[in-house]
Amino acid sequence: MTNPHAGLATLREQSPAVRVRTPDGPPAWLVTRYADVRDLLRDETRLSVNPDHSAGEDYAGFELPPQLRPHLLAVDATQHDRLRELISSPFSGDGLHRTAEVVEEEAHRLVAALAPEQPVDLVAELAFPLALTAVRAVLPLPDPAHQAFAEWAHDALLAPRRHENAVEVRARDTLGRMAEIIQTATTVPGDGLLGELQAACQHGRLSAHELAAQVFYLLFVPTEPLVDAFGVVLLRLLTDTRHRAVLRESPAARHVAAAEALRFDTPQGLAAPRFALVDLDIAGVPVRAGQTLLLSLAAANRDPRQFDHPDELILTRSPNPHLALGRGDHNCPATALSYHLLSSSVAAVLRHYPSTTVAPGSTQWRGNFRHRGPASVWAHLQP
Ligand code: HEM
Repeated sequence: MTNPHAGLATLREQSPAVRVRTPDGPPAWLVTRYADVRDLLRDETRLSVNPDHSAGEDYAGFELPPQLRPHLLAVDATQHDRLRELISSPFSGDGLHRTAEVVEEEAHRLVAALAPEQPVDLVAELAFPLALTAVRAVLPLPDPAHQAFAEWAHDALLAPRRHENAVEVRARDTLGRMAEIIQTATTVPGDGLLGELQAACQHGRLSAHELAAQVFYLLFVPTEPLVDAFGVVLLRLLTDTRHRAVLRESPAARHVAAAEALRFDTPQGLAAPRFALVDLDIAGVPVRAGQTLLLSLAAANRDPRQFDHPDELILTRSPNPHLALGRGDHNCPATALSYHLLSSSVAAVLRHYPSTTVAPGSTQWRGNFRHRGPASVWAHLQP
């Protein structure tokens, strides 16, 4: 977790695609070079995200109950286009501004309430609550589900970072709790995007399973990469003090710097599994139809064929065509929103405490083979 990049670099130089064994056992092809990862993310013709196209012994992802299967990152083509359109309102136009505003206000409120006398863990005190605020602003939940979601997030995402539980609670161990939250969210009339999805379901534009699967995906999947993204952006932008003045004043400079932090410490290191629909040749490596490709966004983002000095953090790097938010039809719909959110967390810290310092050496990293972020970011808040 502390430095996966040396290992990824070895694999990247060894071969464009290597056969690996995933932690639960099944094998898959790991693709590590930037050009291959980028092109395969955009290849909707020869690759599918739908696990029904997996054949044989390969890794097919975390197995979900049937009613949660048709989420955005498990369906292709026209079904995907329809679902993507139905979830678009918080990510564009007025919806985007409203969501960003809610999180920006919360960032200022949280930072203003911090006690500056002691070192503060910005992951627990800022990244985690802001990620919850953002996810709720995207998908407003009815009250009982709201509280249950916060409790799930605490147990699954925050407690392990604080080492509060001896046994780590994994998402798959909490499916029962997730099912209850989804049940409430799909049956109690909701506002915002939730209300729009419920209405689409009533009018036959979304099946009951599709409604449950989108609620599942929007609540439980992005929260962790978002906590990790806030963590790496706060860590990297506050550690390198050379750009302090410009980061405090300029949203554009914060956007450029946040993009570099996401490239350098890619929170979601692997894209969702892709299944080969036909036999493929990846720069000379044969892949059979039905086999699984794991596209390493983390390795691609450090590929020297694409980025000069890839192992250096250059907060002014521009252009920066990193793949941390994906590419192609399944790219992250919250890309613009995420940059607003990440930027507002740094802006809030620097506005209230312009001379804040962070000691990077003390950072512990946590995650698994698919994601990675700092467990804590200890900051000395200084006016
Ligand atoms: C900065 C934090 C985030 C990171 C690093 C991130 C990363 C990604 C990546 C890499 C993908 C593409 C995966 C692939 O192609 O296999 C993706 C897709 C997606 N993300 Fe994000 N994401 C973030 C924030 C969010 C937020 C806040 C939301 C919504 C609340 C969200 C919702 C989604 C959805 C629904 C998809 C699937 C899109 C599709 O299949 O069409 N993400 N995200």
